[in-house]
Formats: sequence, C-alpha cells, structure tokens
Amino acid sequence: MLTIKDLHASVEEKEILKGINLQVNPGEVHAIMGPNGSGKSTLSTVIAGHEDYEVTKGSISFDGEDLEELDAEHRAHKGIFLSFQYPVEIPGVTVTNFIKTAINALRKAKGLEDMPAKDMLKSIREKAAMLEIDSKFLSRSLNEGFSGGEKKRNEIFQLAMLEPKLAILDETDSGLDIDALKIVADGVNKLKSKDNAVVLITHYQRLLDYIVPDFVHVLYNGRIVKSGTKELAHELEAKGYDWIKQELA
Ligand SMILES: Nc1ncnc2c1ncn2[C@@H]1O[C@H](COP(=O)(O)OP(=O)(O)OP(=O)(O)O)[C@@H](O)[C@H]1O
Ligand SMILES: [Mg+2]
Repeated sequence: MLTIKDLHASVEEKEILKGINLQVNPGEVHAIMGPNGSGKSTLSTVIAGHEDYEVTKGSISFDGEDLEELDAEHRAHKGIFLSFQYPVEIPGVTVTNFIKTAINALRKAKGLEDMPAKDMLKSIREKAAMLEIDSKFLSRSLNEGFSGGEKKRNEIFQLAMLEPKLAILDETDSGLDIDALKIVADGVNKLKSKDNAVVLITHYQRLLDYIVPDFVHVLYNGRIVKSGTKELAHELEAKGYDWIKQELA
C-alpha cells in the first residue's frame, strides 16, 4: 500500500529525514517511536504532502502510484488521512458540518454527487453511537475549547466517517490522559480491517498495549534505525533511547 524508499526531506534548507525506508501493507498497524525531534511528525506530514517540506531524494508511492506530483488534497482523495499533533480550531464550524464538507469534497473528487442528507445523518448517527459520541459534541465548534480527550474523539470520528485506506495518527501529545489514549485505541481497533492500514506515532508504550502493532520502528535522527515487533516497544520502555544511541555508536 505505502512504499517509502530512501526518503530525504528538508525544511528551510535543513535536512530532517535522512533516508527513510518503510513498507506498509493492507491490514497492518505500524508504530513509530523515537525521541523528540527525531523526525516523526515530519515523516507524517511529508507522506501527507505538506508543501513546507521539500523531498530532496527518494520516493513515496501509494497503491503503486508515485505521490511526488500529488498535493495534499489529492493524496487525501486517494485515501491518506493524517491527524494533527496540534489540531486547528475553526470557530463557527461544527464538528458535523466539518465532516459533511470533508465527505462531500471526497465524493466530488471521485465524481460522485453530494451524499443525500438523510444518508449523511444516518452515517453520522451510526458512527457517533459506535464511538460513544453524544449529539451535543457534534454541534460544537471544531476543536474550539476541546480538551485533549475531545480532540482525540473528534479525530477518531473523522477517521470513522472518512474511512481512509491509510490513517497516520500522530499521538505525540504529552497531555493525553489514559482515557484519551483509550479513545484512540478503541476507535482504531473498531475501524481496523484487512483493507486499511494504520501508522501510529506515539511515545507511549502503554498505547501499544491497547493497539497491538504488527511492527514497531524507531526513528532516530531522521532514519529508521531499528524495526521489530511489539516487544521492541517494551525493550525501549525498559532501556530508553540511550540504548539505541549506544548501539549506533
Ligand atoms: N517547519 C519547520 N521549520 C523548522 N524546523 C522544523 C520544521 N518542522 C520540523 N522541524 C525540525 O525538524 C526536527 C524534527 O521535528 P519533528 O516535529 O518531525 O520531530 P518529532 O519526532 O515529531 O518530535 P516530537 O516527539 O517532539 O513530536 C526538529 O528539529 C524540528 O525543529
Ligand atoms: Mg512530533
């Protein structure tokens, strides 16, 4: 599904990603861990096609298609979803209206008509019920005054509604309590299927007790320096990143 080869990317002339290789297949969950500033969020935004970052070498392909020429919007249309580490507030736009607009934009890109209002409402109700989201929440302004947990709930709601092929979730938020982690975990587990894949960026070994990843990668100084199964996350928790540094030295 996603194939990244020798990816180098820079921001403002500074090289952040220094040769990333990653293969993500349908049905897989990949966790990416690594110290602050190692390039995790940069990798996710580069995959999503953020224009601030310049790919200087290497390639990203999705379902066999090279993404180089596609902007962020077109990548989203192909089924790539990126959650934000720091989501933006949009006063005056409700959670519901935002998702309606997003869904219809996706449909338009596929040459489809707007989803009939009745179907939209039904879908929103179903997904909200599945994720235990109440109707009051759906009529709030997007991210305005949202707690950390509410932001996560909204992120998972968007995921449930948009049903992307590849979800990249940047969960590097030190303010998240265990309930917020569980919202993410329960949501991801409910939405997982053999056809979609998840790349989960996290500092929390604990989150990986709830969402069991098929692969864990350690990103360090712009490179994936170690890959393994979930045991690797336990090992990291026990030994810290100094262990990785020593291995590389
Ligand atoms: N737009 C930008 N302008 C300047 N520097 C940037 C920009 N984006 C990222 N960087 C730099 O790139 C490096 C990697 O940042 P990135 O946000 O990818 O790290 P991270 O692994 O996600 O860290 P964290 O665990 O703290 O979220 C950092 O040194 C950061 O300052
Ligand atoms: Mg980050």
